[in-house]
Amino acid sequence: MAVEQTLSIIKPDSVGDNNIGAIIARFEEAGLRLAALKMIQLTKAQAEGFYAEHKERPFFPSLVEFMTSGPVCVQVLEGENAIVRNRDLMGATNPEEAAEGTIRRDFATAVSANAVHGSDSAESAKREVAYFFSADEIHTRWA
Ligand code: PPS
Repeated sequence: MAVEQTLSIIKPDSVGDNNIGAIIARFEEAGLRLAALKMIQLTKAQAEGFYAEHKERPFFPSLVEFMTSGPVCVQVLEGENAIVRNRDLMGATNPEEAAEGTIRRDFATAVSANAVHGSDSAESAKREVAYFFSADEIHTRWA
């Protein structure tokens, strides 16, 4: 299994609900390591750029509004098979469909306020990590 990096975002709902630490604990308890971490307020342009592939979808304006409604915590998670492992920890996009014990089941309230984002492929992870972090901000354990 390859060591991978993936981009994770703790979304404004979870930051507002004081769940940053509880969510990061899920990553660490599962054996993923934090290689980078920061809290930021996304601008409209940053959110639109990050989600550009979804710009034709009907929920795009509300997604951008939600993602700019308060600060987010962005982190690079690292570990063997990190991309899929993070997606498994997150659970389904809609928290009503997320399995028990997943982050979205436990912390999200709606598909439009679903607690966390995680890269969905190696290609996305590469783009998304670079979207928020320069190389010197990432502290890999496997360099
Ligand atoms: S996914 O996870 O990419 O397969 O999900 P997808 O259905 O393609 O959704 C893409 C992102 O849009 C978010 N989303 C929504 N936001 C607001 N309102 C509605 N109805 C909605 N449906 C989906 C979804 O959470 C995905 O964002 P991320 O940040 O990747 O979770």
